[in-house]
Amino acid sequence: MGGGIAQVVAASGRSVSLHDAQPGASERALEAMNKSLARLVEKEGPPPDEVLARVEVVGDLVGADLMIEAVVEDEDVKHDVFRRADAALPREAVLASNTSSIPISSLAAATSRPDKVIGMHFFNPVPILKLVEVVRGRDTSDATTREIVELAQDLGKVPAEAHDFPGFVSNRILMPFINEAVWALHDGVAAAEAIDTIAKLGFAHPMGPLALADLIGLDTCVAIMEVLQEGLGDDRYAPCPLLREHVDAGRLGRKTGEGFYRY
Ligand code: CAA
Repeated sequence: MGGGIAQVVAASGRSVSLHDAQPGASERALEAMNKSLARLVEKEGPPPDEVLARVEVVGDLVGADLMIEAVVEDEDVKHDVFRRADAALPREAVLASNTSSIPISSLAAATSRPDKVIGMHFFNPVPILKLVEVVRGRDTSDATTREIVELAQDLGKVPAEAHDFPGFVSNRILMPFINEAVWALHDGVAAAEAIDTIAKLGFAHPMGPLALADLIGLDTCVAIMEVLQEGLGDDRYAPCPLLREHVDAGRLGRKTGEGFYRY
């Protein structure tokens, strides 16, 4: 998602520094951006070269007006990024997280600027989906919220504000829906294709919940369900064992070439 976010920010005319600790990840993101921009150019998108020229791959966190963090859904890893960003970025910079479920106030506590920490939650595929869920932590200021709402609008997105509850609004609704579809498969109610066809044609969803889980990443789905289960203190949010089985076997969805489907 970091690449998708970098793409839409660069397409708005801003300069972007792209940093990923994993070797090769930034280069893969650039490749994906290239492909995505080539598709968008047919729909009057900006010239790919122009957009990519505004994206610089950097080896560490650097000075910037804004950070948008999109690392793995692990609270400790995110804390580390926020601590480092707090030290590397100027005091007036906003530190935003693309987290799908981790409390913003907890990320803010790792910094000396909780008023400038906010959730800026994009949706996959970022260049296509219009929503940005803007999540205020306990200490997020009105000025920070305004800045992020205006930025989202300037990126051509539609911001919707939510409070800092586990899973916010989007994943409190979406993840139990996906998890229940996985239970239906686990219980043998129907085959994966039939479950997805029912959601696509019965509810007019653009894709079925199992295909969507593969797009999101099954490890991310498990991580979000765990945040809901622990944060809301309710075992009805426990991840389905079949979801865990795929993750344990390294079948994480599209990103590993196999999840509920093969790619
Ligand atoms: N970049 C540029 N263009 C893209 C693209 C990308 N990454 N992905 C798709 N497109 C374009 C295609 O080129 C195509 O364009 P045309 O209509 O001009 O041909 C159009 O989008 C539709 O794509 P496809 O024809 O390939 O397939 P589709 O109609 O099934 O659409 C989809 C694909 C946009 C992914 C659609 O299935 C969809 O919206 N699915 C639901 C996605 C969703 O729910 N995302 C949210 C996940 S939750 C999340 O991200 C956050 C979280 O916290 C977990």
